[in-house]
Amino acid sequence: ATITIQADKPLHKVSPMLYGLMTEEINYSYDGGLYAEMVRNRTFEHDWSGFEHWTLVEQGTGRARFEGSRTDGPTVDLPSSLHLTVSAADAQNPAGIRNDGYWGMAVRPDTTYTGSIFAHVVDGTPGVLTVSLVNDNTGKVLATTTTQQLNGDWKQYQYVLKTDKLPAGSVGSQNHLQFTLTSPGTVDLQLPSLFPPTYKNRANGNRADLMDMLAGMHPHFLRMPGGNYLEGDVPEERFNWKATLGPLQNRPTHRSPWNYTSTDGMGLLEFLEWTEDLNIEPVLAVYAGYSLKGAHINAGAALKPYVDDALDEIEFVTGDQNTKWGAIRTQLGHPKPFPLHYVEIGNEDEFDRSGSYDGRYKQFYGAIKQAYPQLQLIATTPVKSMTPDVIDDHYYKQSGEFYAMLNHYDTMDRNGPKIFVGEWATREGSPTTNAGAMLGDAAFMTSMERNSDLIVMASYAPLFVNVNPGGMQWSGDLIGYDAMTSYGAPSYYAQALFSQYLGTDVPESQKSGGSDRVFYSVTTDAAKGKIFLKLVNGTTTPQPVQLQINGAKLAREAQVETLSAATQAETNSITDPRRIVPVHSVLKGVNGNLQHTLPPLTVQVITFSM
Ligand code: AHR
Repeated sequence: ATITIQADKPLHKVSPMLYGLMTEEINYSYDGGLYAEMVRNRTFEHDWSGFEHWTLVEQGTGRARFEGSRTDGPTVDLPSSLHLTVSAADAQNPAGIRNDGYWGMAVRPDTTYTGSIFAHVVDGTPGVLTVSLVNDNTGKVLATTTTQQLNGDWKQYQYVLKTDKLPAGSVGSQNHLQFTLTSPGTVDLQLPSLFPPTYKNRANGNRADLMDMLAGMHPHFLRMPGGNYLEGDVPEERFNWKATLGPLQNRPTHRSPWNYTSTDGMGLLEFLEWTEDLNIEPVLAVYAGYSLKGAHINAGAALKPYVDDALDEIEFVTGDQNTKWGAIRTQLGHPKPFPLHYVEIGNEDEFDRSGSYDGRYKQFYGAIKQAYPQLQLIATTPVKSMTPDVIDDHYYKQSGEFYAMLNHYDTMDRNGPKIFVGEWATREGSPTTNAGAMLGDAAFMTSMERNSDLIVMASYAPLFVNVNPGGMQWSGDLIGYDAMTSYGAPSYYAQALFSQYLGTDVPESQKSGGSDRVFYSVTTDAAKGKIFLKLVNGTTTPQPVQLQINGAKLAREAQVETLSAATQAETNSITDPRRIVPVHSVLKGVNGNLQHTLPPLTVQVITFSM
């Protein structure tokens, strides 16, 4: 193939927000994922079969039993508790309960873990609660402490667990947390919690390794919260942001459409702080009166409470301290408003067969634009009665399907709505995607960059998966993890490279000849004096590429990042996390007419200096 670039002839600007993040509570993305809470089922959900993830501890002659108390809890939002009766216990023979965490608990040496629990004494004088991190296999106590004396009122007890050097074989995730008594008595317990050090040391914060990985993608925005999670199966199970604010004991939790309960520890303010920590912008998704099982609220008076709720939400994000919801945000510890340019009205409303979205979008649009004319409002599907500012397109495809649609946006009307590709992925490989998917994704990104006058934003989905058995509801994800470690699919690195090496303008260019499985995109940054050329070889053979770069005086050396695979099935995994990662090299003897060979199954970024 010959690729000709006219570096001094910009065709259009690159959208400055092109690459971003989309997440939702799926595949244990927050609970058991980014949200660093280590205790699973901390609100003691239970049914006839028991309390998932909680079991008895009876050491030696220690004896205990527990059951649910549906009527006694520390707050109206958490009105139930675990009722623990210890009938026999002493210092050598403690009894109580243990929690096995989200597929274990990662315990590291010389680390401080902070936590708390609500408790009140129902009967007897049980004294203090002993809180310990214990190795599953050896029974060794890795860190331990006691609470203050328990008493008859509901009270929150704080604790700190500090590990020292750990015994050989104890570093890992095969650990659990125990709450035991050393005197008989009956106590009600609620909201046990334990956090490791978090990203930027935020209380109630995020896992540092996963935040580092997100930062490594060089994103510009977070669609929050995206996907089905926003809608819920039924309206009562939507992401009801007002129920996710404030102290954890004031968050009732809710069932999510991916069939597990969300702790709502990742609430609206935590989402916003996440954007702040990555120095990115929220793209706020508001519930728009349609839920997955088909319930919809027609435009008009019935929809008004939801529209008002969205207006309140926007005020919570952007309002100053003199506004009602800005003042509430201030009380919650964040006086500074967050930046906001985009609001998305609903999610995948094309599935609403009633046709109510047209009216719903229009009503939200009217009310939001009146209060916030500067905001861009994203429709989740085309509407007939008006022209939305932006439309959210979703693509889940095989690499071959992406290859076949790379010209989809080339001829689209530039006077209509802008495009947000709010969810997209090449779904090849599981749990995370493979090298074939990396090629499909990279090819699609070349077309998005070429059309980035139209496509204002794009975000891959799903971003996260907990790779433990039962952790995945949707295969083909970007970042995999267990309690202890995390890794990126090959495509993670392709996306990181595409976002890191992105110019401000798309110059004139063309490709002639060569394989139809060789793709490219080129952007320039005149201020930085750079040309970024992305090349994708979707074939299994080396591909010669003649690079003709006109309109620039090029430095003799260019920097190259190469992501190559031996087969399309090759991939990264929890046990082989860095099999396919970018390899840096230097291209010497650069001139305006360069013969280059692209290795098979490869994504390459070449940075030329001008
Ligand atoms: O990303 C997985 C799901 O795909 C999202 O929840 C939904 O919006 C889409 O159908």
